Amino acid sequence: MIPKSFIQDLLNRIDIVDVIERYVPLKKTGANFVACCPFHNEKSPSFTVSQSKQFYHCFGCGAHGTAIGFLMEHTGLGFIDAVEELARAAGMTVPRETSVPGQVQHKAAPDLYEVMQSATRYYRDQLKQSPRAIDYLKQRGLSGDIAARFGIGYAPDGWQNLQSIVSDYQHSSLLETGLVIENDEGKRYDRFRDRIMFPIVNTRGQVIGFGGRVLDTGEPKYLNSPETTLFEKGHELYGLFQAQKAIRASRQVLVVEGYMDVVALAQHGIEYAVATLGTATTPYHVQKLLRLTDKVVFCFDGDAAGQRAAWRALENALPQLVDGKHIGFLFLPPEHDPDSFVREHGSAAFEKLLQDALPLSAYLLRELSGQVDLRTQEGRTVLLQRAKPLLTVISAPATALLLRKEVAALAGVTQAELEALYAIKPVGLPARRAPQKAARPVASNLRVLLRCLLFQPDLARELPLDWEADGTEAAAIAALAEWLLTQQGAVSTAAMIQHFQGSLYELLLAAEQAEIMQWSGEFDVAAEFQGVLASLREGKHRQQLQELNAKVKDLGVGLKGLNEQELALYVELGKRRFIRHPREGGDPAA
Ligand code: UTP
Ligand code: MN
Repeated sequence: MIPKSFIQDLLNRIDIVDVIERYVPLKKTGANFVACCPFHNEKSPSFTVSQSKQFYHCFGCGAHGTAIGFLMEHTGLGFIDAVEELARAAGMTVPRETSVPGQVQHKAAPDLYEVMQSATRYYRDQLKQSPRAIDYLKQRGLSGDIAARFGIGYAPDGWQNLQSIVSDYQHSSLLETGLVIENDEGKRYDRFRDRIMFPIVNTRGQVIGFGGRVLDTGEPKYLNSPETTLFEKGHELYGLFQAQKAIRASRQVLVVEGYMDVVALAQHGIEYAVATLGTATTPYHVQKLLRLTDKVVFCFDGDAAGQRAAWRALENALPQLVDGKHIGFLFLPPEHDPDSFVREHGSAAFEKLLQDALPLSAYLLRELSGQVDLRTQEGRTVLLQRAKPLLTVISAPATALLLRKEVAALAGVTQAELEALYAIKPVGLPARRAPQKAARPVASNLRVLLRCLLFQPDLARELPLDWEADGTEAAAIAALAEWLLTQQGAVSTAAMIQHFQGSLYELLLAAEQAEIMQWSGEFDVAAEFQGVLASLREGKHRQQLQELNAKVKDLGVGLKGLNEQELALYVELGKRRFIRHPREGGDPAA
């Protein structure tokens, strides 16, 4: 295991600009460097590198990370290899932590990615030794090449086989990755037994979870890794890592339901397919795919469950629609899923169906008008009601305009009448006044705190000790602070980003990283941080005062109704009542 402190030293020593320049020519603009993003197709540069903070962020596709992350994502290297490579170039040697018997283990978090990697290797080795598992895959039409491409393996029967991949089966890392389950009596056993193993890989090529299929009949058919710090189901897509190149080349992505569908399609040369992981398609999935490419086609099984899944995908896609991008729906004959279809009819027939996929708007109108009798007024009323939640979430202007027009026409009303009925702002008419440039949304206080912490990690020391973690942002701040305060010496922004890579907070932090790209050295971050803390404190005090006031009033016995502690707080808050933080301004008595 590589000591965490070495990662910090390494990130301090190297320059991300040099690292990236080896692969992508960068251009200096202002404080940052930019380029056309190497991770998605684009014509104008939105890939931005902060030299002062040593991280990159693409404003187009959301790719983000440190020099280590860049190397992994760009070259497909694993974490250790990427670190080795950077260290070699910087003339440093990577030290290894070895566990010395009798010595207390250093409390560094074990690298969960490494554990997953070892498990993947183990399952693959086991597949080679199991004729039964090999036969199963062959009988499903898969070649050895495709099995290797997807890292498919086999978890043999037995309760504690994973003992052979770790020195200590009791180590928490096996539980944290979800590879091992602990029962009520504290007994541990392997989650996956006698199953074909499909590794779930993130876009950096790291294994973050598994899906395990029974070989014959058995329940559940697929067993999946639980959500862990590495793995959030609603964010990941099976096969995306392997499909990236083909998606770029074919300028489209196909979303299917099952692991086997992805693999079987690839076997037949359709390499741009990905699958959701036993969950509905989330808005996050849609956003991620629309950033990668201009055309997303959902392909669902022909059965009733497939129809429901398609409708859910449509609902979650609506808020993410972008004018000019294409979303389509492909419905297979009821007896087929993509795997069985492509095996029976071949890839040409499948791609023909793909070309004729139903555009999202047509699918939406078909479903809406199919459910009601448009010849009656009641039917048209129901149509208007059903369409409302769908139409009102679309923010892509041209798409919204056309769909409103169509629904209005179906219901026999005008577009203006429909907009009035839904109480939504009209689209499409020339604005009477020149539209004001949309103000940037004011960031929440907590997000500003996060930004400040990212920009200047040592501010964590200024956080109040009784920081309360309610909500994701507050929890992220707590996690950041907890980690920072246990680090020796100054911690850089890049070291922090690297540490929280793969954690539950990665995406939240990535959004804030993008914000601090534009911050300059002249900006007084410490003052901003204190200001926000003061205003949070003020808000809390105001709320406490309100509650105490209400109590005094409700009881009708004046201050006698308060206990000693409440009384002291009441007096204290009363004193401060007119002292306001200058940020807020306004009438102090209001
Ligand atoms: P399907 O039941 O359609 O399976 O589930 P499939 O992909 O066609 O699999 P084969 O062809 O029978 O091998 C679709 C997806 O739903 C999730 C899995 O992600 C699966 O790929 N699923 C299904 C589960 O998570 N658990 C289950 O028990 C079944
Ligand atoms: Mn199937």
